[in-house]
Amino acid sequence: MTNPFEFGRELSASELVDRADEVDTVLQTMEDGGRLFLIGPRRFGKTSILRAAAERARAGGAVVLRHNAEAYPTLSLLSRALVADAATHLTGSIKKAGQKIQEAFGVLRPQLSYNPLDQSFSVSLGAAASTDEEVLLVEALDGLDKLAGASGKRVAVVIDEFQQVVERGGVEAEGQVRAAVQSHDHLAYVFAGSKTALLSEMTGDPARPFYRLGSRLFVGPIPRDDFRPFLQAGFEGAPRSLGDDAVEAILDLAEDVPYNVQRLAHECWATVRSEGADGPLTEADVRDVLDRLVRRDDPFYTQTWNRLTAAQQKSLLAVVATDGTGLYSRPILRQYGLPLSTMRTALDALVRIGVAREEEARGSVRHRLEDPFFAAWLSQYVVRP
Ligand SMILES: Nc1ncnc2c1ncn2[C@@H]1O[C@H](COP(=O)(O)OP(=O)(O)OP(=O)(O)O)[C@@H](O)[C@H]1O
Ligand SMILES: [Mg+2]
Repeated sequence: MTNPFEFGRELSASELVDRADEVDTVLQTMEDGGRLFLIGPRRFGKTSILRAAAERARAGGAVVLRHNAEAYPTLSLLSRALVADAATHLTGSIKKAGQKIQEAFGVLRPQLSYNPLDQSFSVSLGAAASTDEEVLLVEALDGLDKLAGASGKRVAVVIDEFQQVVERGGVEAEGQVRAAVQSHDHLAYVFAGSKTALLSEMTGDPARPFYRLGSRLFVGPIPRDDFRPFLQAGFEGAPRSLGDDAVEAILDLAEDVPYNVQRLAHECWATVRSEGADGPLTEADVRDVLDRLVRRDDPFYTQTWNRLTAAQQKSLLAVVATDGTGLYSRPILRQYGLPLSTMRTALDALVRIGVAREEEARGSVRHRLEDPFFAAWLSQYVVRP
């Protein structure tokens, strides 16, 4: 029997809990030639939503070119991948590919080679050595738009971790990519990203090029009413069932972050599997499982902790001890021995390095851990002020 709880990889459409509306919105954008920003915290399931929508769009005959900008150290490499996609999916035949690619991407001086094993093309760009990176990307998108128009197919460009494009290419890239995207009639665009503050600013600040370029869809937590039956169903046929309090404990300790929910459920399932039959799993059992899990990940958490400054460590403890609000209040500042400006700088740094994230809640900002299990590690290993 294989463990029914999966974490760390992108899920396919049939494996998703909830997210039907999000998948529909992305699919609609792909089919209508629209522009959409999918924005959400890390590990909330953005990539899985993109994948599920892409599967459905492809089944309906569309061509979906999906890339994770983080996987490409330079914009030049991302541009190359897009041209290779075009050769594979938009030229009609291997024979015609060379000529069509020259026609659409001539300024990039592309050289194509065909790999018969996986029937794909790889590309080098002669212009890469002498051209600015953001210009390469814009030329690649322009060429794609031309080819999409000529092919008569619905074509969607999906760029995951889109904020990387702007981080790599800077302000120049932001302006130029926007101008290109805006002028393309034959392509749909879906941009997704996880640095919520950065992407929200990029798309919500009137002074930035991407302001109102497309609609925005924020990915939130999966409703518990959907997660509960999924968790319980996973334990059907296992030596122990999952008690109601155990279900709540998993969701609470994982703070509803889908990755963490699946990871903790996976670990609970594996434990039950190896220890054999008994009564239903309880809240205390789940806590034991989590303690074991963070002990195993101790080297990772220790390293993260030791890289923080003293002020960052204190403010992290404050985030965990409170519900992430009121961190600038006098009693908290006094308890943790931090002046307000130091607390602010430290929290900003925690967000920047991806230890904490900000969540807008009822008009105020709440700080939360990106990895809620870090809190369990802290409570085991670190003494609080
Ligand atoms: N709809 C869902 N139903 C069940 N589990 C989910 C769902 N979405 C995400 N998960 C869990 O979260 C994990 C990470 O999902 P995914 O990679 O799609 O998230 P992400 O937001 O793209 O993450 P990252 O910020 O790291 O790129 C999945 O492997 C799965 O365990
Ligand atoms: Mg992702």
